[in-house]
Amino acid sequence: MKFNIKNNMNDKNLQFTAAVKKYGTPAYLYQGEEIIKNYESLTNALPKCVDVFYALKVNPNISLVKLLRSHGACTEVCSITEMEIALKAGSTPQDIVYLGPCKKDYELKRAVELDIFAIVIESEIELSRVSKFAQELDKTVNVAIRLNPDFSADGSPWKMGGRPTQFGIDEKHAIENFGKYLKVPNVNIRGIHVYNGTSILDAKSVYENTKYILNIFDIITKKYNTNFTMVDVGGGMGIPYFQNQTVLDIKEFEELMVPLFEDFNSKYPNTRIIMESGRFILGTAGYMAVEVNNIKVNHEKTFIVTDGGTNCHSAAAGSGRVVKRNFPMENISANEDSPINEYQVSGPLCSPDDIIGRNIKLKEVNVSDILIIKSSGAYGPSSSPGLFHSHGFPAEILLYKGESHLIRRKDTSEDIINMQILVDLNIQEPILN
Ligand SMILES: Cc1ncc(COP(=O)(O)O)c(C=O)c1O
Repeated sequence: MKFNIKNNMNDKNLQFTAAVKKYGTPAYLYQGEEIIKNYESLTNALPKCVDVFYALKVNPNISLVKLLRSHGACTEVCSITEMEIALKAGSTPQDIVYLGPCKKDYELKRAVELDIFAIVIESEIELSRVSKFAQELDKTVNVAIRLNPDFSADGSPWKMGGRPTQFGIDEKHAIENFGKYLKVPNVNIRGIHVYNGTSILDAKSVYENTKYILNIFDIITKKYNTNFTMVDVGGGMGIPYFQNQTVLDIKEFEELMVPLFEDFNSKYPNTRIIMESGRFILGTAGYMAVEVNNIKVNHEKTFIVTDGGTNCHSAAAGSGRVVKRNFPMENISANEDSPINEYQVSGPLCSPDDIIGRNIKLKEVNVSDILIIKSSGAYGPSSSPGLFHSHGFPAEILLYKGESHLIRRKDTSEDIINMQILVDLNIQEPILN
């Protein structure tokens, strides 16, 4: 590996360059201090009565979960593997909630055995299934009922509720039928869960959403005279990716959320209030580093071919995003005074869609330069099609207290081939003349 290093680089870029020199590209780089700063800016803006649960779906790397856990974060998991990661990273079962629309029997059984804080029930069928497993194990299982409310969160490009989705039970139906749920054997219903949307940048929208959920809690509590011990209001706090977006105003968030939660807490002091968050905590603290392998002009556009594209950063490529725009990107190998040019940044795939920057302005790029795609800590590593062209998943590196730590090694050809099974189909060798 031969990377271009310029002597005018700032500390962060020097650290990035040294790390990729050591571990190779493509790679995800995480700034540990930034992760903690983001996490604490959220917890500091919430009253003590609220617990923040880190959503592993955003980035399940065990070292990152451990770092967050060591600063007090609880965990929200959506598969048995995420649950085992959370436990291995130091979470206690009582600080885990488990949700998701498809929980397999063996996953549910494990969650019942472990006595996690709550299995979040997504349907009536799932409620019966959990009850059956609890009876078999002669236990009482703690659950929360996930509702799909009649209200949808403003300002969220991905709405999980307030419209037909595979998540939760319709608000009206659940309110009508809660009496039946409360009678299901071997099940203790702790309360309710709602996750209505993600990537919200408007504090008022998170507030309105939360207020609505706390009100549903109130309605059910009064109607059925329950003593709920949990309300999970989701979250959806976003980060800006594009030029015309502004950061979530954390001061405004605090001013709105603190009185709302404190008022709720004074009425329901025994109810644990949960907010879930992932993108806000990890997003801006993660960077993807790719190396420039080739530069060419094609039909009058200049293409930079890099060793990491949509196969390892689907989020930057726009997959799953409503608007396809460029993630912020920088050529960290360029000189301070390099001219700015316009480029198309592609990855290594034989697919015209493998573009992670369109008509993007970068300081002059040369072969072997390192490009950094910013705000990549959320979903890039966890939701990309890493096996396309059998390139495998990139390395992940944690930069913390001035040191770099490899926290996931890059997949090798052997890793990928070893997962495949070559069966003996008793095929005759072709006869070559
Ligand atoms: C139920 C649930 N919890 C947590 C999250 C993480 O949300 P975010 O990316 O907004 O931090 C999501 C994201 O879709 C979710 O569906």
